Amino acid sequence: MNAPLNVVILAAGKGTRMKSDLPKVLHPLAGRPLLAHVLAAADSLRPERICVVYGHGGETLPTAIGRADLLWVRQEPQLGTGHAVQQAVPHLDPAAVVLILYGDVPLTRPETLQEMVLIAREGAIALLTVRLKNPAGYGRIVRNTRGQVERIVEHKDAGADELAIDEVNTGILCLPAGKLMGWLTRLTNDNAQGEYYLTDVIGMAAAEGERILPCHPAAEWEVLGVNSRQQLADLERTHQASIATDLMTQGVTLSDPARLDVRGELACGRDVLIDVGCVFEGKVALGDNVKVGAYCVLKDVKVEEGAEILPFCHIEGARIGTRARIGPYSRLRPGTDLDAETHIGNFVEIKNSQVGVNSKINHLSYVGDAYVGRKVNIGAGTITCNYDGANKHRTVIEDEAFIGSDTQLVAPVTVGRGATLGAGTTLTRDAPAGELTLSRVKQTTINGWKRPTKAGKGDG
Ligand code: UD1
Ligand code: CA
Repeated sequence: MNAPLNVVILAAGKGTRMKSDLPKVLHPLAGRPLLAHVLAAADSLRPERICVVYGHGGETLPTAIGRADLLWVRQEPQLGTGHAVQQAVPHLDPAAVVLILYGDVPLTRPETLQEMVLIAREGAIALLTVRLKNPAGYGRIVRNTRGQVERIVEHKDAGADELAIDEVNTGILCLPAGKLMGWLTRLTNDNAQGEYYLTDVIGMAAAEGERILPCHPAAEWEVLGVNSRQQLADLERTHQASIATDLMTQGVTLSDPARLDVRGELACGRDVLIDVGCVFEGKVALGDNVKVGAYCVLKDVKVEEGAEILPFCHIEGARIGTRARIGPYSRLRPGTDLDAETHIGNFVEIKNSQVGVNSKINHLSYVGDAYVGRKVNIGAGTITCNYDGANKHRTVIEDEAFIGSDTQLVAPVTVGRGATLGAGTTLTRDAPAGELTLSRVKQTTINGWKRPTKAGKGDG
């Protein structure tokens, strides 16, 4: 039977170099806190327990993450990585294998971690290491003449020979809990930084003849941590580049893979085209042959086959039907449901409204809390007056209605099927089907009227 898995995530550190009031692990990468990425990787391994060691920033962290299933352990003061894991010990199952992760190393792939868990379940110690061109600052992996891992020496404690080693400790390791607990009790802080080093556990294990198996990530970014805003920005670009590569591999055309930001899940059909500068948040699904123009922001949107979104649109919580054409400069807010072949144009805002097949709202309009039928034409500058200052009311515009430009529909109000509203109408009562309704002051001309002239100086 497999040993249960316990995950310990170290996140108590200060993050001084971020120069931020926000705890470091709450800074977002691809729209989610660093720690949320680590938790997602941990979750994918289906652990029995996840324990997060926190400290700096106080209760901000547990509150922001808001997950009742996590074991939160406060480390105060912070006396090193070994001390941090010691705080978690009372919460660990001695029969488990323990995977140690860092809250500020967000992009480790589940596959890499899974391999380590397998090794630990066989009783060995899996240590994630990597060779770096510039290993400065990291703990170095010291191997014996037979190539076996002997210990880890921290940069600040290392001699010249050890500093020349380019294989470094990523900090991520997986090992049987019972053994770890024993070694932790023997840690001392007799070192250059006066800290309890988790890394000393490796030396103890090697001395006792334990098997220590180094594992390596498939890509270096899997083990990169965030200590500064520069590193955060670099890792964001690396992550986005890998998302872009995946999308292109799936058959998506990206006008420039370096100018794409996915902050959630983006699912694409065949032959999707995404122009530069687009941001995708939450869950976005783009059907076959969808085109998204430059500089659009889409959040929680479903775009159906063949629809085209022209540049500079902001769309949230909406469905866009087959072969619809949106934008440029459209704003679609939550609850917008556009049927097939709808056209929504520039400076049109739509909220909580259904728009039927083939209807057009092409210029400068606000449509809120409305039901718009099929083949409706809504003229420029039309406004649904849905809010009376206290309550919201619905507007219903039935099939094939024609709404003249600059019309206000004072809800609740219904425009009947095939009705026409004259330009400039303020509709306060229902407009009957098939008829022309308009509210308009009769046009008059005052013959001989003169414009006022400016009073001259000295004229009194
Ligand atoms: C640690 C490793 C080093 C490795 C490096 C990789 C030790 C002694 N050294 O060094 O071998 O190359 O990571 O980045 O383990 N933390 C706590 N409580 C503490 C101290 C740290 O929770 O008291 C957390 C931090 O929030 C961070 C992680 O542990 O997530 C690592 O801490 P950090 O100070 O960055 O470790 P390093 O000294 O850089
Ligand atoms: Ca670090």
